[in-house]
Amino acid sequence: MTVELAWTETGSGDPLVLLHAFPLSQQVWAAQRTDLAAQARVLTPDLRGFGASPDPGDGPPTLDAMAEDVRDLLDRLALDRVVLGGLSMGGYVAMAFLRRYPERVRGLVLVDTKAAADGDAARANRLRVAEAVLEQGADAVRPMLDALLGPTTRDSRLHVVERVSGWLEAVRPAGVAWAQRAMAARPDSFDVLRTADVPALVVVGDEDELTPMAEARAMVEALPDARLMVVSGSGHLSSVERPDAVSEALRGWLDTV
Ligand code: MLT
Repeated sequence: MTVELAWTETGSGDPLVLLHAFPLSQQVWAAQRTDLAAQARVLTPDLRGFGASPDPGDGPPTLDAMAEDVRDLLDRLALDRVVLGGLSMGGYVAMAFLRRYPERVRGLVLVDTKAAADGDAARANRLRVAEAVLEQGADAVRPMLDALLGPTTRDSRLHVVERVSGWLEAVRPAGVAWAQRAMAARPDSFDVLRTADVPALVVVGDEDELTPMAEARAMVEALPDARLMVVSGSGHLSSVERPDAVSEALRGWLDTV
């Protein structure tokens, strides 16, 4: 069963759909929605269980289910082909979508994400956090703040630290638990990238510790047609920590797609 996603859009022109990171919402793309509106129709959904979208429902937690929600949104808006992008978990969902519907993707944007599946320890940790969040609520995700943001942001962009802390306070436990279980079950996506017949932009913060540079380089090597953009002074949430740099990279790349 698909979930009817809430979304926001700005601009007009070729559609660009941007999927958000865990455990956040479409707010991570707020700057790009404004910055890119002159160049594209920018659509930012909330994935199931996050932001203004409904709870995840009872089906088995998988990224494929999240990808189906995105497909359903595109169908409702009569969008045949889009440039699809994702930040971290949003990137995992974008790769799951590309595996299922390659004909509907005309370009791929992968920001602070990775194609590798989890190892056993990471998977076990996700399942532990899924249990914990259902018992403790936001307490279980608050410690993520330091890993999400790079040292430059933690030291000198206090408004960003405050904003992301507020987002972590507002998580919905059912959505967080479901998404952790879905990410734990995700496959390796390098096979999807190797056969991706579309231009791609890979973006990574040079202080990203969760999905570091090596992961970005591995995706660029797997993709037949990819450009790498390194964002200086940014951790894992590049679109929020250095929105100017990410918008600039997208603007330049979109011109070529
Ligand atoms: C995210 O930012 O979406 C998460 O860090 C992804 C993950 O937990 O692998």
